[in-house]
Amino acid sequence: MNQTTLTAPVARAEALTKTYGSGENEVAALRGVSASFAPGQFTAIMGPSGSGKSTFLYCLAGLETVTSGSVMIGDVDLTTLSRTQLTVLRGGRLGFVFQAFNLLPVLTAEENIRLTARMSGRKADEAWFGVLVDALGLRPRLGHRPSQLSGGQQQRVAVARALLTRPEVLFADEPTGNLDSRSGAEVLRFLRSAVDAYRQTVVMVTHDPVAAAYADRVLFLADGRIVDELTGPTIDAVHARMRRLEG
Ligand SMILES: Nc1ncnc2c1ncn2[C@@H]1O[C@H](COP(=O)(O)OP(=O)(O)O)[C@@H](O)[C@H]1O
Ligand SMILES: [Mg+2]
Repeated sequence: MNQTTLTAPVARAEALTKTYGSGENEVAALRGVSASFAPGQFTAIMGPSGSGKSTFLYCLAGLETVTSGSVMIGDVDLTTLSRTQLTVLRGGRLGFVFQAFNLLPVLTAEENIRLTARMSGRKADEAWFGVLVDALGLRPRLGHRPSQLSGGQQQRVAVARALLTRPEVLFADEPTGNLDSRSGAEVLRFLRSAVDAYRQTVVMVTHDPVAAAYADRVLFLADGRIVDELTGPTIDAVHARMRRLEG
């Protein structure tokens, strides 16, 4: 039996819809998406451009409001929270990594890593800080500003920042989209090891079958709906499904 059926999900979307704009500018980005994310599960979300991947991730992470449906993080329905409650929950329980790194240019790598923890008023776990910095190879770069770091190093700083608060779920939107394949592989291997060693739950949007193959399963979106799912994905299997979707 797989663990999904045995364990309460960390995150769950139920009949999620999201419509942008109104009238003739209306865009139905999500048209009823339901999915569960088990503890320690690494999920990749794939689909053609414009299929709703980023919208789905942002709604799950409480960074975007939903039009209808619910998003459960543990037993809290994000869609019922005030903006302030949402900010508090996000700061501690959810981590986010963006394609464009989103580091603050005037802060050093170390200050960037500590930023989310500091803003959520938590005392950082120094032992965990050390584990992350070493596992991500950032120890010699802690005093550098983002402009002095490679793209791969900047993204590893962003990953450390997102994980320092030990979030229940790490969300990542195309985290390797701006990286060369070698730096991308370093980030992906680290995400995989965080899942395997610490049971970190990860939800990652990607358009790259190589990246998706690091995950435990892949959800495929098309036109705002989940249309397919692959467990234990291989690069070839993901390629084949994507070709069919983009057909
Ligand atoms: N802020 C927005 N305002 C209006 N339409 C949007 C907005 N964000 C996304 N969309 C539209 O919603 C659909 C899904 O977008 P998105 O979730 O970004 O897709 P993906 O990440 O799969 O490329 C697209 O048609 C896109 O143009
Ligand atoms: Mg996107």
